Amino acid sequence: MPRASQSIHGIWGSRLTFILAATGSAVGLGNIWKFPYITGENGGGAFVLMYLFCILIVGIPIMMAEVLLGRRGRQSPVNAMIELAREAGAPRVWGLLGWIGVVAGFLILSYYSVIAGWALEYVLRVGEGTFIGAKSEFAGSAFNELTASPGRLAFWHTVFMFMTMFVVAKGVNRGLEAAVRILMPALLVLLMILIGYAVNSGSFMQGFDFLFSMRTENLNANSLVIAMGHAFFTLSLGMGAIMIYGAYMPRNASIGATVCVVALLDTLVALVAGLAIFPLVFANGLEAGAGPGLMFVTLPLAFGNMPFGSFFGVLFFVLVSFAAWSSSISLIEPAVAWMVERFGMSRVKTSIGLGIAVWLVGLGTVFSFNIWKSFNVFGLTFFDALDFLTANIMLPLGGVAIAVFAGWVMREPDVHAELAIESKTIYRTWRFLVRFVSPAAVLFIFALTMYRYFTQ
Ligand code: PHE
Repeated sequence: MPRASQSIHGIWGSRLTFILAATGSAVGLGNIWKFPYITGENGGGAFVLMYLFCILIVGIPIMMAEVLLGRRGRQSPVNAMIELAREAGAPRVWGLLGWIGVVAGFLILSYYSVIAGWALEYVLRVGEGTFIGAKSEFAGSAFNELTASPGRLAFWHTVFMFMTMFVVAKGVNRGLEAAVRILMPALLVLLMILIGYAVNSGSFMQGFDFLFSMRTENLNANSLVIAMGHAFFTLSLGMGAIMIYGAYMPRNASIGATVCVVALLDTLVALVAGLAIFPLVFANGLEAGAGPGLMFVTLPLAFGNMPFGSFFGVLFFVLVSFAAWSSSISLIEPAVAWMVERFGMSRVKTSIGLGIAVWLVGLGTVFSFNIWKSFNVFGLTFFDALDFLTANIMLPLGGVAIAVFAGWVMREPDVHAELAIESKTIYRTWRFLVRFVSPAAVLFIFALTMYRYFTQ
């Protein structure tokens, strides 16, 4: 059967655009905000090692599978899966996989936007010079004041949702390419400057040690599942974001090499962010396990006490906001593409409708930091519960389904042709990982966590 050479939603200009767009999706709050804070909560070294291990043996193979499905399906994840299932002679229920992805992306965006809103607020606060010469108590209370105010959180959440839906309404867009090409390297440079500051401020080795030396005693029953969930979250896997970007990928680009570049860049940004943040945590006597506020309490301190701090600080939070922006677009793109295909609606109308819906759900996260703080689901706030459900359960399960589909359901010659890996060894290794190792690892981690949870 002849395959569509491009999707109705457009196509990337080149392989480089795909790399940039996928990196834009992968690098975001997950790397700079979430990775350090969950590493702090889960005791450092051993957790980081588990996360790196999951990237390598679960993340990269599944990412290749996801791009492969997207590029062959050339549609929204829901319709791509239905189409690919038909091609493989498998039941239509595989469309459900696309559906779960659409829902996961929708839910993740609802809280992602609230956190991105914090970064927007910090652009202003740092720019006003609020943190000049500040001490850690002040940085802590400034953050607590922000999260205690539903009005301020809702305001910035609204601004960020508006920014996201604006881009999505305009469609696959060259602006994204230019933004990622310039802003990603700039973000890395700024993180390096922060590391430089951390080296001078004294606690660099302590931070380094926290990140990279094994301390298994701090792990708890959930740590492993969180490390694995984060591997999916940070690579934007398991919900169709990478699938839909794969759908816009030109036929001649090599999937394996491209995916490795994206995964490497993503991991690099996370580790560099950790190396910038933890030395400051220890130098200022802060708590590594402080939770979601970790980055917003430590970095303003650095900017408040270094030369040209306000300038670098504003630039940093602007870049973080951009990184979050290019991720949020990919969180909602599967849903938008699906609605355009299904109802023939315009991108603009679809974006407005979905934007409002996501915004409403996001209010739940806004309130979970203040008026709903004591309202618990299984001992978690609304935000924590949503994060746990999406990142640690939905994405890994979506990822397993993707691996099973690419490894067991699709016809092998189709897989081979689409991946077009020349080296037999690499192809065979990938196939082995995707058929056996990745799904087994995910399921094993779930099983182990359940076991430890009930026996601890
Ligand atoms: N990978 C993004 C980050 O690290 C978040 C994301 C998850 C984006 C899933 C798209 C899909 O911030």
